[in-house]
Parts: sequence; structure tokens; C-alpha cells
Amino acid sequence: MVATIIVDFQNCFIFILLCFFSLLCYTLFFRKPRDFSLPPSPPSIPIIGHLHLLLSVLIHRSLQKLSSKYGSILHLRIFSFPIVLLSSASVAYEIFRAHDVNISSRGLPPTDDSLLVGSFSFISAPYGDYWKFMKKVLVTNLLGPQALERSRRVRVDELDRFYKNLFDKAVKKESVEICEEALKLTNNSVCKLIMGRCCPEEGGVLERVKGLATELDITTKKILLANMLPPWLKKLVLSLFKKEVEVLSNSFNELLEKILVEHEEKQGEGKDLMDVLLAAYRDENAEYKITRNHIKSFYVDLLFAGSTTSVQTIQWTMAEIINSPKTLERLRGEIDSVVGTTRLIQETDLPNLPYLQAVVKEGLRLHPAGRIFERFSQEGCKVGGYYVPEKTTLMINDYAVMRDPDYWVDPDEFKPERFLEEEERKEQVLKYIPFGSGRRGCPGENLAYIFIGTAIGVMVQGFEWRFKEEKVNMEEAVVGLTLTMAHPLKLTPIARTVNPLTLNLKSCGL
Ligand code: HEM
Repeated sequence: MVATIIVDFQNCFIFILLCFFSLLCYTLFFRKPRDFSLPPSPPSIPIIGHLHLLLSVLIHRSLQKLSSKYGSILHLRIFSFPIVLLSSASVAYEIFRAHDVNISSRGLPPTDDSLLVGSFSFISAPYGDYWKFMKKVLVTNLLGPQALERSRRVRVDELDRFYKNLFDKAVKKESVEICEEALKLTNNSVCKLIMGRCCPEEGGVLERVKGLATELDITTKKILLANMLPPWLKKLVLSLFKKEVEVLSNSFNELLEKILVEHEEKQGEGKDLMDVLLAAYRDENAEYKITRNHIKSFYVDLLFAGSTTSVQTIQWTMAEIINSPKTLERLRGEIDSVVGTTRLIQETDLPNLPYLQAVVKEGLRLHPAGRIFERFSQEGCKVGGYYVPEKTTLMINDYAVMRDPDYWVDPDEFKPERFLEEEERKEQVLKYIPFGSGRRGCPGENLAYIFIGTAIGVMVQGFEWRFKEEKVNMEEAVVGLTLTMAHPLKLTPIARTVNPLTLNLKSCGL
């Protein structure tokens, strides 16, 4: 009897010891240290979590308000799906500086075969061999400085057309919707740049691509928004506009297939982007074996990413200029003194026009077209003193970052002069992210600066602008996911010269 009690006691003792040991091991090896707590989470609604916050139309504003109340890094959940929201310059800088590779994917790849941000898409591709290969092709053949120099003639012609059209409206005393005119300029340019030698204006190919590109913007943004939802809810939401996606994807498929075949049949002299991609498609030993669907989807991505973003910035910046006569006067003075009053401003003038550059930057700071962009953490990491778990969707509110009162003086005011100050220029790397940042940052940044700089330059150099009311209404609206003006800017141009300004090809380096 005594022996049994002793054995039981021994077993009990060993059991307690084991429990202690396990607890110790768990604390030492598995539990996150104390300072690795999750970011704070604002009050949520049972079951749906913070879904209601993402349903607001001006989501960048409601999330900005939320962050100023609860903190610049927040942990949200949509049902059980986790999201970390980053809203200040300091946390954005920290995550890009310390964890760029870790957050260089945008999330789970979509599963369907649609050409609209589907499984062949460059924009939604995970950071890996396919993305790296396409990025290299993109920079070398379309968006890098040398490629942009090679394609300058296309933009010079389109800019001249943009100016002549405005001049014509001025002669007829007609008003213009700035957004519409800017859309013609960027859509024409992007289509011609990406399709290269097979972008014939005859046969309506260009018109069809441009028409589809406008529809593409709204539909793709719906898909991107759905991508932020947990997989089961995403499937449900996507099923609501499945038909719309299918029809648009098929139209692109048919049109791009025609353009590909035409490219294959018409061997040109120089190689353009499509030639390079087709060569990679045919090459058994290519660095990465791409399919025809990869090429088509890549084109759809470029049409989506490259057009309306610049258009909206042109519209917002012009509205800010109209509301600030002093800015208009200084800008015009700079252009007149550097470019003169007889020849039309060109992209080659931009480096000599620091105030124009500052105006464009300030337009992008206050009105970043995308407002919020999405990334994904492959591994757990520490940001702003908190733990961001692995496989978490990150939402970076660049609208809030670029109006962060801790980093910007008078953050809501249009003050281009701030970008002329040396100190401000140094600090930009921390807090100025209209094009995102790091490896996955926007590859079209240089092209966008050209589109916006030259469009604003032409409008200021060539015309006085009449606006019916005293001030432009700067109320925001959102179309798809793009930040746009609730009341589109409509102005009447009055030409500053009797005869149109001349196009001087020499000054364009052509
Ligand atoms: C005002 C104009 C533009 C703005 C504000 C803008 C902004 C952005 C932003 C915020 C991102 C996400 C960056 C990130 O995750 O860090 C992005 C990505 C991208 N943009 Fe732009 N963009 C503009 C113009 C353009 C143009 C002209 C093109 C090309 C024709 C372009 C092509 C792309 C592409 C391909 C991506 C995806 C990059 C990737 O996933 O690796 N963008 N853009």
C-alpha cells in the first residue's frame, strides 16, 4: 500500500516536472517576446470585424481618421482574415527599408485564368522568377530612361496633338473637360508606346484598345478590391461580376491575339516590347518560359496601370493651379523665361523647370491616384514596435502618409514651394510615396512625370483659363479605386498667342 502511494507520488511529481519543462520550452522557443505584440485593433463589429470600414467610398479618408485616433499601425480583420494597415510616414519608411523583400508580393495569386489581374498577371504575380523576368523586359524595353529616350517621338507628336486640339477649342471659344483631354493624351501615348510598330490608327485598332482600356479601369479595380477580402468572400463578390470580367477578358484576348499575329507576320526593323516578348515566348531556352496568355495579360496590366492614374493627377494639379493664381503666375514666369514664348514646351525642358516639377510633385502628394496599395508579408516581421504576422495582407495608405502632420508642414495645403527646399528634398525618401516604394514600386514613375509635367506645362504656357465660379470645388470622389474629382474640371482656354506655338524637333533632341 505504502509502495503504491510512493509510486503514484513519483508519477505525479514527474508529470508536474514535465508540465513545467514544456511551459518553459514554449515560453523560450515558441511564444513571441512581450514587445512582439500585434498592432492595436480599433473596435470591431462581431463576426464581420472591420468590414464596414472598407465599405466606405472615401476609404482613404475613413482609414486616415481611424489611424489618427488609434495609431499609425493597426490590426484589422475582415471576418477572420487579418489585415495590417500602415498610415504614417515613419512606419511606411520602416517597412520598406527593413523588410522590402519580405513584402514584395501583393498577396495570394488570383486563381482564375482571366486576362484581368488573373493568374498570368504581372501586377498580382508573387515576387519570383516570372515577376523578375517581366520587370527586366519592362524596364529595358519600355520604361527605363534609355527606352524612354528611344520612344520620345511618339510622345512629342501626341503632346503636339493635345496642344493643337486645345488651341482649336480656344479659337472656337469652347470649354473643355480637362480629364477628357488628358485621357486622350495619355491613352493614345500608352497604346502607341506599348504596341510599338503595330499600332495602326487605321482600322480602328487604337480606338478599340482605348475603348476597352476605359472599361478595364473600373472592372480591374473591383477585382483588386475583392482581392482584399478573405478567399470565400472574394469568390462570392467576384461571382457578382463574373460575366463582366469574362466579356472584357475575351474582348482583350481577341484583339491582342490579332495584334500578336500581326507582329509575327510583319517583321520590322527595330525590336519593340512585343517583339521581345514574342522572342521569349518562342525561345525554348529563355530565362523564363512565358506563354501567349502571359503576354496578353501583361498588356492588359500596362493599359490598366498606365493611363487613368496620370489623367487624374493632371486634372487635380490643374484644379490646384486654378485655385492658386500665385502658383499660376510663378509657373508661367518660369516656363516663359526658360522655354520662351514661341516654341512649345517639351519633355526635354522638364529638368530645367524646377518649379514645374515641384507643382507636379505637390499635385501627386495631395491627390495620389491609387490612394492605398496592397502588399503581403511572407514572413512575420516587426514594424513600429509591433509584430506583423506572416501571410498578412498589408494596406499602405499613401494618402495618409503624404498628409502625415508629423512630417509635413500644413499637410492639407497646396504649397509646391516645399519641394524646392533642400531639407524637404532630403526627407522625401521617408515620406513621399505616390508611386509606392522598393522593388515593387511603380515602374512607370518616369513616364508619369513626363505625362503630367508636359501636359501641365502646355496648358500653362499656351493658355489663359476661364472658370465660371470663383474657386474650383475640390470635393473628392472615387471611380473604381481611383481618386477623382466629384465635379470634373471644366475650363475655357484662351490662347496666349495669335498663332499656335511651334513644335521644334531640335529642342526635343530629335
Ligand atoms: C500618376 C501616375 C501613376 C501613379 C500615381 C502610379 C502609382 C502606382 C502605385 C502606388 C503602384 C504600387 C506600388 C507599390 O506597391 O509599391 C504602382 C504600380 C505599378 N504601376 Fe504605376 N502609377 C502611375 C503611372 C504608371 C504608368 C504610366 C505605368 C506604365 C505605363 C505604370 C505601371 C505600373 C505597374 C506595371 C505597376 C505594378 C508594379 C509591380 O507590381 O511590380 N504606372 N503604380
